[in-house]
Amino acid sequence: MQTFISDSEAETGRIAQEICKKIPSGSLVLFTGDMGAGKTTFMRGALQAYGNDAFVSSPTFALVNDYGGDPHIYHFDMYRVDSVEDLFSTGFFDYLGADSILFVEWSENIRSFLSPPFFEIDIAKTPAETQRIITVKGSGF
Ligand SMILES: Nc1ncnc2c1ncn2[C@@H]1O[C@H](COP(=O)(O)OP(=O)(O)OP(=O)(O)O)[C@@H](O)[C@H]1O
Ligand SMILES: [Mg+2]
Repeated sequence: MQTFISDSEAETGRIAQEICKKIPSGSLVLFTGDMGAGKTTFMRGALQAYGNDAFVSSPTFALVNDYGGDPHIYHFDMYRVDSVEDLFSTGFFDYLGADSILFVEWSENIRSFLSPPFFEIDIAKTPAETQRIITVKGSGF
């Protein structure tokens, strides 16, 4: 397990890049953390780590954003998904593969339907307005 302290949105981006250098193609990455913690912000730095210049937006309504690239990056938001039937209908299981990386916001909702290996990234707010504690678990951390 590895812990990082971020004191700004930009620093979360830099930390995301550092973390993602160790997350290879074929991975599943599960975010946890409250609304506004910084999961979507983290994704912007993550894409930079893979040299992907796609525009990152919150997939809350689309459920999944496809950013393309090599590795092929998919960004899910499971905020409204809470059954395994719903999870299947997002196409989640079809996107998993050696050439892709799946990043999942609100993984809390689908965690019981998944089995390892995966990376877990928790982003926690602190009493300081712009400070976040980022905790990473998974192979190499
Ligand atoms: N250190 C920090 N790291 C990341 N975001 C920060 C930080 N400090 C302040 N913020 C602010 O917190 C907000 C994070 O929003 P973001 O959309 O990334 O959260 P989220 O976890 O994806 O939320 P949601 O669950 O609603 O999708 C942004 O407005 C950002 O400017
Ligand atoms: Mg978000």
